[in-house]
Amino acid sequence: MVRFYVLLGPPGAGKGTQAAIIAEKCGIPHISSGNIFRENLEKNTELGKQARVFMERGELVPDDITIRMVEDRLLKSDCANGALLDGFPRTPAQAEALAVFLADHQGEIFCVPFINVDSNELIDRLSGRWTCKAEGHVYHSKYNPPKNEGVCDLDGSPLYQRNDDKRETVQQRIEVYFKQTAPLIDFYKEKGLLVEIDGAKPIDEVTQAVLKVVACEAE
Ligand code: AP5
Repeated sequence: MVRFYVLLGPPGAGKGTQAAIIAEKCGIPHISSGNIFRENLEKNTELGKQARVFMERGELVPDDITIRMVEDRLLKSDCANGALLDGFPRTPAQAEALAVFLADHQGEIFCVPFINVDSNELIDRLSGRWTCKAEGHVYHSKYNPPKNEGVCDLDGSPLYQRNDDKRETVQQRIEVYFKQTAPLIDFYKEKGLLVEIDGAKPIDEVTQAVLKVVACEAE
């Protein structure tokens, strides 16, 4: 069985930050549904046009669009040895669809690290976030600043602030998380896959905790 990992957590918990580090250490692709949507917005594709209105409002893109997009990505050859999913699934329907897809493709969810952070801290994290234009690498003006202001350490591309990191949109995203995504905590707990991780700790401590759970061979 090929192992897949699902990172769960509220907006700003540090899923993207951790996923980039862990995926590299484990030698598997980091698949972020948010990044795929943003690439499509940037290129103004049909998918980007469909997703834009929902993302700008801080709402979830409808399940059928999202599921099709992620399944297409998982069918690419670089996922043959597994992948780390960040931001998907985010509704019970997406979780059910993923289970069926993996069962059909000799895959399984090995574990679901749930990075938990108090709601008050999420706003602080998202309002200080800077993201790289080329690859979506993530920084924070206070907690994880780039070496040179406004420039990505890893690929030299410019850093920008996401449109959906405005305060009102962040509040909406957090509410949507509690209504639509939080039910997945029990869903994966009941399957014995969920491991809660204290996301309030510094980035490298959270990485160590996630690595322990993921237990990938390339570590
Ligand atoms: P998406 O891009 O997935 O956003 P999100 O889940 O809201 O998560 P974020 O990217 O905001 O946060 P994160 O947990 O990755 O935190 P990060 O590591 O950046 O989705 C965006 C939109 O796309 C959605 O609103 C929706 O419209 C659509 N979408 C995406 N997937 C979908 C799906 N499956 N279904 C339907 N719609 C979907 O960290 C945040 C900041 O904190 C950074 O600045 C970082 O440097 C800092 N930081 C990280 N860890 C720490 C730490 N331990 N201590 C201090 N600072 C830290």
